[in-house]
Amino acid sequence: MPTDDAEPLTEAERHHFGRQGFLALERFTPAAELARLRAVYDRLFAPGAPVPARDRLELAGGADTPPQLPQVLSPDQHAPGLRHTAAHRSALRIARRLLGTDARLTGTHAIRKPARDGAETPWHQDEAYWDPASEHRAISVWVPLQAVTPDNGCMWFRPGSHRLPVLPHRLIHPDAHGLAVADEDASARAVACPLPLGGATVHAGRTLHYAGPNRTDEPRRALILSFACPSRPLDEPRAFPWQRPEWS
Ligand code: NI
Repeated sequence: MPTDDAEPLTEAERHHFGRQGFLALERFTPAAELARLRAVYDRLFAPGAPVPARDRLELAGGADTPPQLPQVLSPDQHAPGLRHTAAHRSALRIARRLLGTDARLTGTHAIRKPARDGAETPWHQDEAYWDPASEHRAISVWVPLQAVTPDNGCMWFRPGSHRLPVLPHRLIHPDAHGLAVADEDASARAVACPLPLGGATVHAGRTLHYAGPNRTDEPRRALILSFACPSRPLDEPRAFPWQRPEWS
């Protein structure tokens, strides 16, 4: 791991991000921190965990089906053990290098794909969830807590898609809170990003991305740290009619 005053990304990594809209980093979370984070993380998803209903959102399934893509919003507010980690510090330094010194942490969430059962996270652009009346400069750092492969739900990206506008999206399920891009060809030329234990990926707000279902016997745990510069109102606001009314 780089020390806190080292350059957080190489020149080649910054250029790759600028051209492709994503990065795969093989060394990100220190091994000693991973085991501790996994234990805290699993307690958050256990029955009876102290997470209010408003911060437990099912992304893919209906109201009457077992959770397929359970998500906890702001996990670090409900589990102090997830705060002040080396992963947070590294992610902030990367965000400031890529976005500018006014980038700050704007949100965290955790998505746990159950063993042998987790649904796919369909292709989408994160900006499709955000305020259509504002301009956004943002990245997300995706921090899995185990090695990831196409079999357990690693991330996939479409290179260069960060330069696209926000494409039309739809809700994955009318009762759920996840979005999917409407264009069936979104996965064309997609690149899988398997990672060793301790790796992470970084993507821009408009980079098209996807994670497959989990076909393994272990849950697939991921923490997502989002960073942005202060957003500015657009001269001509867009319309994102796929958003749920409570998001605005
Ligand atoms: Ni996303």
